[in-house]
Amino acid sequence: MTAKIISGNEVAKEIRAELKERVSKLKERGVTPGLVMIRVGEDPASVSYVSGKEKAAEEIGVWSQTIVLPEVASEEELLSKVEEMNKAEHVDGILVQLPLPKHINTDKVLNLIDPAKDVDGFHPVNVGKMLIGDPYFMPCTPHGAVELMIRSGNSPEGKHVVICGRSNIVGKPLMAMLVQKNKRANATVTVVHTGTKNMAEITRQADILVAAMGSPEVIKPDMVKEGAVVIDVGVNRVGWKPSKKDPSKQVADLRGDVEFETVKEKASAITPVPGGVGPMTITMLMVNTVVAAERRAERMRK
Ligand code: GUN
Repeated sequence: MTAKIISGNEVAKEIRAELKERVSKLKERGVTPGLVMIRVGEDPASVSYVSGKEKAAEEIGVWSQTIVLPEVASEEELLSKVEEMNKAEHVDGILVQLPLPKHINTDKVLNLIDPAKDVDGFHPVNVGKMLIGDPYFMPCTPHGAVELMIRSGNSPEGKHVVICGRSNIVGKPLMAMLVQKNKRANATVTVVHTGTKNMAEITRQADILVAAMGSPEVIKPDMVKEGAVVIDVGVNRVGWKPSKKDPSKQVADLRGDVEFETVKEKASAITPVPGGVGPMTITMLMVNTVVAAERRAERMRK
């Protein structure tokens, strides 16, 4: 069997078209959705992610601003920026790009973001609300993965989903989303991780296999059931070398957590890297930002 390729680019385009309409309606009501991103340092992956988010915002009519702090910026400096943005009325969403430099306490920063502006869905209040089945903002990457399953005709409902990886950004929130008793979830969920024995034995039971461990091409065909749906969340940069265009800059190839060329011969459907979950992550950030602005518009009406 050769797998159908699930295009995140196409699904993302469809959602962005819907968002454009919602943004136009908001603007008619005098509300322009606003997103502030804070990046600390020049990590090339973070630079690239943030610029992708800026472009998506521009495309759908969301106002965005990126605040760049130097790598050596103090924790206090970052905290005071977050506080300032919490108070700014035109700012609907605040995103602090991760990872942060080691001298900054990430939890302290995430906990300070107003949960009502937490478009990343990382604040413990929002994590807790999602867990109890009353979501306010859901984290973008796992939310994007679920949306991609549903819109590509691979609903998780009633399926055995095996998630590889237990990060706070993907594995754990995805687990919390998929076990909920609702039409967009209702899956049987197993999470495997570095403490799991016989990992391949478990991944081979998956109707839907989600790879989110952050290691290049570790999911091989012997770990996949014939006909399974494979969702690759991995974004690994390998083979760094100087750019041909600008040799002062380093460039790398992108690889997923799945060995795409071999696994696609066994799966019934698979997401590519790039062009799979990646564009969905950015799009779900836009969804959250527009939702936040719609809530602001509702508050203004009252
Ligand atoms: N770094 C990697 N993924 C993410 C994400 O979804 N949000 C933020 N803020 N940082 C990230």
